[in-house]
Amino acid sequence: MAIDKSDFFTSSRGEKASLYSISAGDMRVTMSDFGATLISIFVPAGMGRFEDLLLGCAEPRQWETTDAYFGATVGRYANRIGASRFSLGGKEYRLAANDGVNHLHGGPLGLSRRIWKVEPSEEAGSPTLRFSIASPDGEEGYPGNLEVAATYTLSADGNLRIQYEASTDAPTVLNFTNHAYFNLHGDGKGLVLDHELKLAASRYVEVGAGLIPTGRLLEVAGGPFDFRQGKTVGRDIGATGSGYDHSFVLDRPSEKPSSPALFPFAVLRDPTTGRRMEAFTTSPGVQFYSGNFLSCPGKGGLSYVKHEGLCLETGFFPDSPNRPEFPSSVLNPGERFSHETDYRFYY
Ligand code: BGC
Repeated sequence: MAIDKSDFFTSSRGEKASLYSISAGDMRVTMSDFGATLISIFVPAGMGRFEDLLLGCAEPRQWETTDAYFGATVGRYANRIGASRFSLGGKEYRLAANDGVNHLHGGPLGLSRRIWKVEPSEEAGSPTLRFSIASPDGEEGYPGNLEVAATYTLSADGNLRIQYEASTDAPTVLNFTNHAYFNLHGDGKGLVLDHELKLAASRYVEVGAGLIPTGRLLEVAGGPFDFRQGKTVGRDIGATGSGYDHSFVLDRPSEKPSSPALFPFAVLRDPTTGRRMEAFTTSPGVQFYSGNFLSCPGKGGLSYVKHEGLCLETGFFPDSPNRPEFPSSVLNPGERFSHETDYRFYY
């Protein structure tokens, strides 16, 4: 089986984190059970060399303390919930605040700083790592005992598929994403400002203080948020303030929200190497984050600076639990949450 396991680090809580490596075709992906985290995506770079397209920590133990969420599977609610509270079924729930007064990426511990159970398998040359975790009722303030699985499958044609599943025993809210920072030059080989990005999104979610949505969805037409025809990340970034850190409303065809199809929402291309990534999702939105707050030691002893990598975090819009007009992030007992995002690489 094209799956290897090795030791990664021991957490401050004494838990042993492992590293898993899966290979298919010419690609190799490494992940950890710590946060069901994508550590590296290696693609061939000629002359027998490989390039890592993901940013990450300098030392294994730093995955526990970083607030960059490098490659992590984020939940229970990826992105922000305003004032760290929401109401459901007439009851108010208070969440742990970890971004000023707001709740970010599932809270201070979240699911991205816990050890997940791993089940490796392989079918028809496609290795799979199925990560699962149980989040008890009340964890970080969320209602319901939640069973979560995130299944990562690499196929020989360069596709990395992520399937999220969840079930609950009480009504709750949820939003899962992967927080990988991509750099198609290769980690540490330059900023992503020259990457060309195309996004199938005619609107984006307006945000106010603390990056919390105002409730308005604005047209991108003609402005810095208009990536519909494709342009470099850096072309209009100056007009955004500190960079892109916004949810885009994907131009999905009309369909039942309960059975969304995989929708091709993004193409990212590095004009220097010609490497390309195409992204697909069943989710209603994507948070495009241009690495505006990056400033930390990185892989291979580098010091990351802003725009060293970018994230395309699929999912619901921020603060959906407080915005009945947004696509619903509520999961009820008896329902099965099931979403998928694929990143396909050409190199
Ligand atoms: C958020 C950023 C945040 C980053 C790291 C992104 O998803 O939108 O504001 O700084 O995650 O936490």
